[in-house]
Amino acid sequence: MVRPALVEAVGQLHPWVAEMATYSFGWCEVGGAPAVAPGGKGVRQALAVLGAEAAGAPGRDGVAAAVAVELVHTFSLLHDDIMDGDAARRRRPTVWKAYGTGPAVLAGDALFALAVGTLAAGPGGAAAVRTLSVALGDLVRGQADDLLFADRPWTGPRRVRPDEYRAMAEHKTGALLGCAAALGAVLGGAAPGTATALDRAGRHLGVAFQIVDDVLGIWGDPQVTGKPVHGDLRERKKTFPVLVALGSPQGDRIAALLEAGDDPGGAAALIEESGGRAAALAEARRHLAAVETALGGVPLAAGAARDLRSLLAHVVRRDA
Ligand code: IPE
Ligand code: MG
Ligand code: MG
Repeated sequence: MVRPALVEAVGQLHPWVAEMATYSFGWCEVGGAPAVAPGGKGVRQALAVLGAEAAGAPGRDGVAAAVAVELVHTFSLLHDDIMDGDAARRRRPTVWKAYGTGPAVLAGDALFALAVGTLAAGPGGAAAVRTLSVALGDLVRGQADDLLFADRPWTGPRRVRPDEYRAMAEHKTGALLGCAAALGAVLGGAAPGTATALDRAGRHLGVAFQIVDDVLGIWGDPQVTGKPVHGDLRERKKTFPVLVALGSPQGDRIAALLEAGDDPGGAAALIEESGGRAAALAEARRHLAAVETALGGVPLAAGAARDLRSLLAHVVRRDA
């Protein structure tokens, strides 16, 4: 349902910029030849369509929302890979690696503008653009904290606390997921309370999603995740399992290992032994329960609510 609209939107871009966008969707190789590489998981576009259906509207009413959030998501990844200095995503060179940093910045800007234009052009455009801009503001807030966390120490008064992590993850990842579900519902004519509940659900889903991402970043199978083994530990990322483990009796030893940076395998083992992995998975489950509470508090169309729940379960049970 969404793909043709997404293809049409990208077709409006300058051909060179369109190729970078198409490459980052996984639809073509560098140079433009059709690709068979897998794209993203499509979680946000599914949320947008299901948000519209949950409001009792046909899924097609959520397509503009799905296109907009998918474009924003791709834009945020293009720029994020530059900020993080990451050379690979989904087992392929990142856009900045393949095309250069300047072109990748430009392609991200183009996708952002296209997302706003897509929403503004449709029915309910003004309200939809307002909803999106709130999420974008939060996304920037979360990225800012994520970048600042990198320079904070592991221990002592300036350490990153789990609460700060939760706020960062809700902003960085949850805001757009919440926006996806709420925007679909807004375009589907939902009552404001329903859109707010879907936004809350998406935000908690985002925190759960990010924590699962953290667990996979340390213990995931690189063959499946497409990311390097122990990548987040090597990069000294302030991930949730690490932050929890630092507060355990083994915290000082873990901090020393992370500081030395020469034994990520040993650090991963100690983080697991100290309960960091289990605590992270428990935290993810708590956020999923909060998703359930948010969804249970408003009337939703039964079929869409069932599909939403199976999507949520998939997001936290995934291994890539
Ligand atoms: C990306 O966050 C979130 C945004 C683009 C806003 P991360 O940097 O943690 O995610 P990956 O590991 O690159 O996908
Ligand atoms: Mg990144
Ligand atoms: Mg990042």
